[in-house]
Amino acid sequence: MRDFENSFSLNINNHKVSYIDEGKYGAPVIIFIHGFPFNKSMWSSQIESLTNFCRVIAYDIRGFGDSDSGSEEFTIELFAKDLISIMDALKIDNAILCGLSMGGYIALNAIENYPGRFSALILSDTSCKADTHEAKEKRIKAIKNIRINGVEKYADESIKNLFAQESFTRNIIEIASAREMILKTSEKSLCNTLLALSLRKQTCINLCIIKVPVLIMVGMEDIITPPSEGQFMHENIKDSTLKIIEKAGHLSNMENREEFNYQLRRFVETVHQESLSPD
Ligand code: MLT
Repeated sequence: MRDFENSFSLNINNHKVSYIDEGKYGAPVIIFIHGFPFNKSMWSSQIESLTNFCRVIAYDIRGFGDSDSGSEEFTIELFAKDLISIMDALKIDNAILCGLSMGGYIALNAIENYPGRFSALILSDTSCKADTHEAKEKRIKAIKNIRINGVEKYADESIKNLFAQESFTRNIIEIASAREMILKTSEKSLCNTLLALSLRKQTCINLCIIKVPVLIMVGMEDIITPPSEGQFMHENIKDSTLKIIEKAGHLSNMENREEFNYQLRRFVETVHQESLSPD
């Protein structure tokens, strides 16, 4: 995992947040929100590819990476509130938001509740739907298993579903890095977040009122939030583009970073150009 040069911390909502802040001040701001149960390190390649063009922020959600947990009960609403507090603390009025999976749930919640704060969205390997009854039961089972068998066993089981088959030979470093991120997460954070994920509300009903440009990316072999979820959001968000990332499963930004970064950069450049051109 990469050590970021510009890693900082700030206090918001009664906890310490660890974040990186790199790239050009005064340039468009892009904020990355990681998936579960990872941390800001998962964005290393995207950060590198955008720093000569954007101000790039990536932070650890409370309870992950180097951020504290705080004492409040984890919910997606709380995570979205934290995001806005981070933006306020860093004096960022408006940003492009990029979230993967749980990061996408947070991004969708944030655009629903704080629409004026975002100029564009990148939704990667995510869904607007709430957990089904079966999915909720699976989470409860996972919580029990983590408590009985520990985080290491959970990491080994999770890895099997996160990556495309091909990645197990092609992306050994990325797989090791994902495992390391899971192992860095405490049992308590894993369980509390699994509960928060199982209780999250759907955001599908408000997709039609999203006014900003949206890029949806999903790994062709994502079995956790498959391409059909991306297709559904694409059909319901007016100004959206869908890109299916080949040779990738759920962690498309790590598994096929060339394609992911190409699409990401192209989208960010277009959004930026459009914001500069007169109406
Ligand atoms: C993630 O990558 O954030 C998780 O797969 C989200 C989920 O379990 O719903």
